[in-house]
This record gives sequence, structure tokens and C-alpha cells, in this order.
Amino acid sequence: MRLAAPRGTRDIKDREALAFRELEASALEAFRRYGYEEIRTPVFESRELFRRVVGETTDIVEKEMFDFTDRGGRELSLRPEGTAGVVRAYLEHSLDKTGGIKKLFYMGPMFRAERPQAGRYREFWQIGAEFFGNPSPQADAETLLLVRDVLSGFGLKDVAFHLNSLGCPDCRPAYRKALTEFLSAHRESLCEDCKRRLDKNPLRCLDCKTDGPSLADAPRTADHLCDACRAHDKELDGLLRSVEFSFVKDPRLVRGLDYYTRTVFEVKAGGLGAQDALGAGGRYDGLVKQMGGPDTPAIGFALGVDRVCRSRYGDALDHAVPTDPARRVFVALAGAGTGETGFKILRDLRAAGLTVEIGAPEKSLKAQLRWADGWGAGRVVIVGEEELKRGTVLLKNLGDHTQSEISLNGLEKVLAS
Ligand code: HAM
Repeated sequence: MRLAAPRGTRDIKDREALAFRELEASALEAFRRYGYEEIRTPVFESRELFRRVVGETTDIVEKEMFDFTDRGGRELSLRPEGTAGVVRAYLEHSLDKTGGIKKLFYMGPMFRAERPQAGRYREFWQIGAEFFGNPSPQADAETLLLVRDVLSGFGLKDVAFHLNSLGCPDCRPAYRKALTEFLSAHRESLCEDCKRRLDKNPLRCLDCKTDGPSLADAPRTADHLCDACRAHDKELDGLLRSVEFSFVKDPRLVRGLDYYTRTVFEVKAGGLGAQDALGAGGRYDGLVKQMGGPDTPAIGFALGVDRVCRSRYGDALDHAVPTDPARRVFVALAGAGTGETGFKILRDLRAAGLTVEIGAPEKSLKAQLRWADGWGAGRVVIVGEEELKRGTVLLKNLGDHTQSEISLNGLEKVLAS
């Protein structure tokens, strides 16, 4: 029986693998300009970390984590997102003591046991960033610009930014009360999960895949903000307008993770169906303190690499990577005693920057030419016994089917031209 990749996972290959690299390159370039440093945190962490950071009553922690117990009896989970690990590392290494601000980025696989569908996987990739220490809307504004720069550097310009404010511990209780009252009045029509969440975490109901869409009349966070949150939001709008950054205010936007305060956002693209969120993020001013650190404002985002690449290239992602035959040379070995010269040619042409492959003298010349063709070579250097005696090789052009005999000494020059 042939084994297949586990449900919800897949192999990233062909054009898709190249697209991942292109997006990473665009992100690296933007991170450099915005002053971010890289951090690589473990792919698994203690289950407790995600419970405390992402939230006990979120879908992610309640039903989507890959949990396991190691041989020492420790309860661990594959990371469902990157912020928790970065905050843990930030505190563990006292990065907060290095000065006022710290900017960290990461790239890697995340794991959620969701029901797989187009654009939704159990293993997916994120490029994310976390900015600690700056409480100002300036930080929110530049984070949004950073996301836009990463996407446009990758060639994806047609995206929509949706923004909302979720308030802070000062105004959230009043909003929560209004929402609980509204939801209680609709209790009978709520799903079982939401009935349970109603008391513990009513905001989650707005994000519920079953009930969310039917709660259009629910109270909106934007109508319950305190003066400070309202001022923060207004200043952010002004900063974004001052640089002609387009966005839409989306009072229905809530997030599937509990740590957010004030600004939250989502980047959406057309043409991706239900899974149209390319990325998301927001402010989480209370989290570092809640995790035992000093009072530290923070904001961050994560892009879903799989979705961003699909949005940019569509079905072309599933095709083989197009190669440039002009740069691809195949060295065919025709006859005994040609191996060492062929191997030197291989080394020298690679050193000259060409993409080079070599045949095998155990195979017939015809079979080697078939390899060359299948591999996408533009030209074949045929190393033959007779020609070697004269200090020459045959150069075959697979494009126009011409062939010439050229001196070994001049080979590199001819091929590099
Ligand atoms: P999130 O909204 O859970 O936020 O995920 C961010 C992005 O990851 C989504 O917009 C989506 O593109 C992608 N994504 C999520 N789940 C899947 C999936 N099952 N399959 C494919 N792609 C997926 C976070 O993870 C936060 N940590 C973002 C953040 C960083 N907030 C502050 N700092």
C-alpha cells in the first residue's frame, strides 16, 4: 500500500515551492527596512502556553490543537500560531530589558486540526511579525504598511484591509454586558457551543462559523469604545489617510484569538472563495503583562503563506517550474575514459554560473540525450573518446539541432556567451 501525506497536509513542490521563496524574499526585504530581527521558536510548546495566550474558550484551543504527551509526561501542542511562542521567548530571554522597543519576525509551519478544504489546511505556513513596546497608533499604522509592502513586493496589489477596534479592559466590560444581553435574548437560536460561550466569552459567538453570520444586529464594539480607544482609532485613521492607505472599517470584524485589544485587522483578497483572509493581526496590549511580564504594548500580524501564494498565482502554482534552456547544459559521456574529463567540465561550467547536469557512461548516448531533453537542457556537451584525442568535444544545440566540434579550452567561453 502506498502511503499518502496525512489529511490536511500536503507537499509544497513545483511552482508553489518557488512562490513560497519569492514571498519570503519580499518579506525579508521589507522586514529589513522596518527594522525587524528574525526569531525561530519551537514548533511545539507547552499546551498551557496556548491555553493562556490564545484563550481557553477559542475554537483553536477547544478543538483544533494537535496535543500530545511526551515520554516524560509533559503536555505539549504543535503551535497553532506564532504569537504565543514569540511572547514566551520575549519574556524567557528578558528581551524587554534590551530597551524600549523590540521587533521580531518569524516564518514557519503552524498546525490546526481544522476540517480541511480549499485554502484551509492542518499544516499551513505563516510569515508573521511582532512589535513590542510602542503604544502609539504610529505602530499600528506602520504595521499595516508593512503588510502591504510585503504583499506588493510579491506582486499582490489588489487586496482589501478591514479594520476594527475591540476596545480595552476599560470599555470591554460595558460592551460585553450589552452583547451578553443581546445574545441571551437570542439564546434559543444559538448553537450548543455558543450557548456555552455566552457566559464565558460572548465575543466568540460573533466569530462562530455557525451563528456569526446571523448575528448582524448584535451590538458593535465601535459603539462602546472609551474615549482613549476612540482617540487611538481616530488617530490611526488619520495616519493611514495621510499616506493614502486605503482601508475599510468593518464593525463586524472580531478575531478567533483572545489576546487582542483595540486595533484588529484582516487582509482579504478576491477569488479565494470562503477562505479569503490572506492575513490578520492586531494590537495585544495586555498580553505580555498577563503572561507575567512588565506592562508592554504590542502589535503584530501573520500572513497565510499558502493563501497569499494561491491568490497571486492561482492554478499556475500546481505546474512545474519553467526553466531557462539557455542556462542549462547537459554533459553526455560517450565511451570509456570520458568520465574524468566530463566531471571536470561539469565542475568548471557550474563554477561559471551555468546549471549543469551530467549523464552516465553506463547509458547509451541516445538514452543520455533523452535525459537531457527531459531535464530541459538547451545544449549538450558530448564528451567522446575520438574527440578527446583531438582535445575537442561536440556541442549539440537542442533548440535548432545544430552540432559543432569545439576545442575543450574554448568550451566555457562558448557556453557562457
Ligand atoms: P490568524 O488569523 O489565526 O492570526 O491567522 C493568520 C492567517 O493565517 C490567516 O489570515 C490565514 O491566512 C492563515 N491561516 C490560518 N489558519 C489557516 C489554515 N488552517 N490553513 C491555511 N491558512 C491559515 C494569527 O495566527 C495571529 N497569530 C496573527 C497575529 C500576530 N496577531 C498578532 N500577531
